[in-house]
Amino acid sequence: MDRELNGAMRSVSINSAQLNGHNNGGGIDETDRVGVARGGGAVLSATTATTATKTTNAATTNVAAATNSTTHSPQQIALLSAAEKKKMVHELCQQLLLTDEQVQELCYRILHELRRGLAKDTHPKANVKCFVTYVQDLPNGNERGKFLALDLGGTNFRVLLIHLQENNDFQMESRIYAIPQHIMIGSGTQLFDHIAECLSNFMSEHNVYKERLPLGFTFSFPLRQLGLTKGLLETWTKGFNCAGVVNEDVVQLLKDAIARRGDVQIDVCAILNDTTGTLMSCAWKNHNCKIGLIVGTGANACYMERVEEAELFAAEDPRKKHVLINTEWGAFGDNGALDFVRTEFDRDIDVHSINPGKQTFEKMISGMYMGELVRLVLVKMTHAGILFNGQDSEVLNTRGLFFTKYVSEIEADEPGNFTNCRLVLEELGLTNATDGDCANVRYICECVSKRAAHLVSAGIATLINKMDEPTVTVGVDGSVYRFHPKFHNLMVEKISQLIKPGITFDLMLSEDGSGRGAALVAAVACREDILNSK
Ligand code: GLC
Repeated sequence: MDRELNGAMRSVSINSAQLNGHNNGGGIDETDRVGVARGGGAVLSATTATTATKTTNAATTNVAAATNSTTHSPQQIALLSAAEKKKMVHELCQQLLLTDEQVQELCYRILHELRRGLAKDTHPKANVKCFVTYVQDLPNGNERGKFLALDLGGTNFRVLLIHLQENNDFQMESRIYAIPQHIMIGSGTQLFDHIAECLSNFMSEHNVYKERLPLGFTFSFPLRQLGLTKGLLETWTKGFNCAGVVNEDVVQLLKDAIARRGDVQIDVCAILNDTTGTLMSCAWKNHNCKIGLIVGTGANACYMERVEEAELFAAEDPRKKHVLINTEWGAFGDNGALDFVRTEFDRDIDVHSINPGKQTFEKMISGMYMGELVRLVLVKMTHAGILFNGQDSEVLNTRGLFFTKYVSEIEADEPGNFTNCRLVLEELGLTNATDGDCANVRYICECVSKRAAHLVSAGIATLINKMDEPTVTVGVDGSVYRFHPKFHNLMVEKISQLIKPGITFDLMLSEDGSGRGAALVAAVACREDILNSK
């Protein structure tokens, strides 16, 4: 899973707010109102769609007014008062704020896309694939033993040795290995050879070189699973693009790489997504955990679905009523369903990404893109003369150099205090910022992160309403959720507004979701009661 992205984790010394205070407010019982035509496009209520369009258009007009060089040159704008500049910043950021109607509309559309992914006839063309994970059993606390886990999906790759013990106790040793950029976009063989080499080194360092241990492989990319130990890569995401892996069984590629070395032996017991790992890891302690969420380098969720809804799942055991679904909702919007809320900045991110046209929802939310979104807004306002007296810097003008961790740092300043903000601006080579500039920079960060939190909340509320269980715990991991000082509270507030009355929920920070989760999926697969029931 992601441990470091876009500088998100570099020396972050931010407190991630209090992680309690969960409440459940009144909700709107309308999710099921969405008219979903199988195989058809989104069925929207005409009024909502119109409102949404109007809002967007209004925002766009304001942007034009705020930065219209025919009325004001950047030099003239630079001379305006702080209050006038602030007004322009707020107007330009209007397009980043989601109205309640837009968020509600998003819930309808997400539900529609989830249903398309789950249903056999619409699945092939669906954007939100809703892949079956083959995980049906949650941990019951009786899982024991020593497991290896591999965790690939962010900028780093981790190998872990986990010892599950009694009373929900466990010991874990792990090591992070970098995945150099040339391997992220090199050949698949190179990638899996690198993984096998790291695994072998780790096993020898931890004195398990000669043992044959069960292994869980957290592989956090869209995987078309054909079983608990078989999965074909659908497409790469998050900056990876290794040749020869799409449509291949990644478990086989791992086994082949290990066989090529011939030095260590392992039993791959499960392949899983980081969202699944997070859910399992939280469910080990909290049996209400039925959703796993990652808001880190990427953004994605998995949830417990009724077997009859998962049309692509050929259930073998009629006693088991549920199966975990990896939604891969990062791809929501790839068909235009998000266009009514996308901005010029989102389009810019997409065009310059390694995978244009893909992962539209993820690009509006996750840590891989959040800092860059803020940078694009800052650049636009600076060049218009609204920020920093129109003076930019080389770092500000360079793609990828406004790290996502800066957003968390800037928002961690007490209101009116700009200590972190000034440190960040200095790193960007912007040393002449006024207090007004700092307040505007902070506001821009708030708009971008709040939008991300609201988008994620729309997704989570849709899942909670669809599941329709009285109490749901959402297990969450990922650097954005973990380190952004307000993300948790923003989510709690928005989800409370969106869920059906009577449902309660809470968001539980996972302790090392993908590592321990991988061991747990492997452990559950070889738990005695489960083996005996087969
Ligand atoms: C991307 C991947 C998905 C993963 C998520 C979070 O969206 O496609 O599999 O769960 O990132 O790491």
